[in-house]
Amino acid sequence: MKIEVSLADITKAKVDLLVINEFEGVREPSGATATANKALGGLIYDLAAAEHFEGKEGQVLLFHAHGKIPAARVAVLGLGKRDEFSLDTVRRLGAVLIRKARDVGAKSVGTILHGAGVGGLEPTEAARSLAEGIHLGAYRFLRYRGEEAKKAAEREVKEVKIIIREKGKAAAVRAGIAQGELIAEGVTFARDLVNEPAAKMKPGDLAEVGRELRGNGISVELFDEEQLRQMGTGAFLGVAQGSDEPPFLVHLIYQPKHLTKKRPKVAIVGKAITFDTGGLSLKPAEAMETMKLDMAGAAAILGLFKILPRLAPAIEVHGIFAACENMPSGKALRPGDILHSLAGKTIEVTNTDAEGRLTLADALTLAVRLKPDAIVDLATLTGACMVALGQEVAGLMGNNERLVAAIKESAKRAGEKVWELPLVKEYKEEYLKSEVADLRNAPKSRYGGAIAAGLFLAEFVGDTSWVHLDIAGPAWAERETPLCPKGGTGFGVATLAEWLTSLPSRP
Ligand code: BES
Ligand code: ZN
Ligand code: ZN
Repeated sequence: MKIEVSLADITKAKVDLLVINEFEGVREPSGATATANKALGGLIYDLAAAEHFEGKEGQVLLFHAHGKIPAARVAVLGLGKRDEFSLDTVRRLGAVLIRKARDVGAKSVGTILHGAGVGGLEPTEAARSLAEGIHLGAYRFLRYRGEEAKKAAEREVKEVKIIIREKGKAAAVRAGIAQGELIAEGVTFARDLVNEPAAKMKPGDLAEVGRELRGNGISVELFDEEQLRQMGTGAFLGVAQGSDEPPFLVHLIYQPKHLTKKRPKVAIVGKAITFDTGGLSLKPAEAMETMKLDMAGAAAILGLFKILPRLAPAIEVHGIFAACENMPSGKALRPGDILHSLAGKTIEVTNTDAEGRLTLADALTLAVRLKPDAIVDLATLTGACMVALGQEVAGLMGNNERLVAAIKESAKRAGEKVWELPLVKEYKEEYLKSEVADLRNAPKSRYGGAIAAGLFLAEFVGDTSWVHLDIAGPAWAERETPLCPKGGTGFGVATLAEWLTSLPSRP
């Protein structure tokens, strides 16, 4: 699908579907909608009344133009309330638009730049959100649905023209489209990795995906079991030992083109459990059903690195994930075992289902050793975080106010929901204390489970500025929304991309 800028008059656009919009509760048409309404002989407002179209967000008024204008059909999208309108609305509109176009079998779509008129948005930003929404809304995972995939290919929308009137804005809109397409490419890349069944996305496969991203400023180092044993990543290897699949630690490095001495260096760490059965502390069947999602943190890193050379921040970026399966077997980690982490701390395993923090402990230690200016980790870490914040909001914890604020701001701009949870020092004693080792991996009580996991990770980052995102909820969509079908969401890619491009090139 191509998204292009077109300098034209919407009433003259020869497309299968023309998309315009209206705010909620507007009686007097203005802008493009008024122009279209006039060309259609007042049809829009007659129909709006007859069809009870109120301009509520998500509402669509769809009709045939019957030759009154060159466009075959017209869709009026509800923008919702004017004072609630934002770039997020535009992103969702893009998704609604492309889904509608597909439903009616349109091959070509012409749309106005939603939000750039009375919405008051800057053209590049509006175009960026629109293009992002269009691509994310078009995303589906059909690799294992032959018939459906064939039908989808036949119904694919070939082109979307963003129709503007002022030539002077074309370059800005074009730039926005390119940005939006890039983000969507990273996000959908991550979605595919999460949606792939765990049998097809084993630790070795995840490592291979990383390896294939080499080039264009990206280098990749892989560490196999033998090398990891010599390094001393005992916590990670403890989790991996129950599986027949060999573990891999993957380290991606992006170096900006123009190497400046003082460029900032950041490390992104991701949880990469390709399947989480819980290990010997086995999960019940329904809790295990979606556990291929447990590598969504690593998927976000891979999605980011997929687009990093084109995003081209003037920053050195390290991506680290420790990939393994959490399986029960005759070789599996037992509750009561004590693991020697790379950092030297010993960990009593009280629950083998709290495996993510064990693998992350070693991955974070490697990140700290790089002496980065900041570490951000993304992990589908705790069910407790979903109890606290629901399925759409990531839990955010950190040890540096400025970094916390920067990630919050980036998430907001990216349209991803995060909420800060406090790393309450006073809980440490109760949650982390072991009688036989330096730490225990799972707390005794179920209270504050997301914070307990955050406190555990904090033990391995020391003084390095760090933010932890518990993405157990938002990494996976239980129900379909315009922007994402059920399944992997690619959560985190957009926030990371936003953060890296907003960072000053000098720390
Ligand atoms: N991968 C799970 C967390 C999870 C749950 C992610 C649901 C997405 C959806 C994690 O490894 C886990 O099992 N955590 C345990 C920790 C507990 C044993 C301390 C949990 O949340 O129950
Ligand atoms: Zn688990
Ligand atoms: Zn897990």
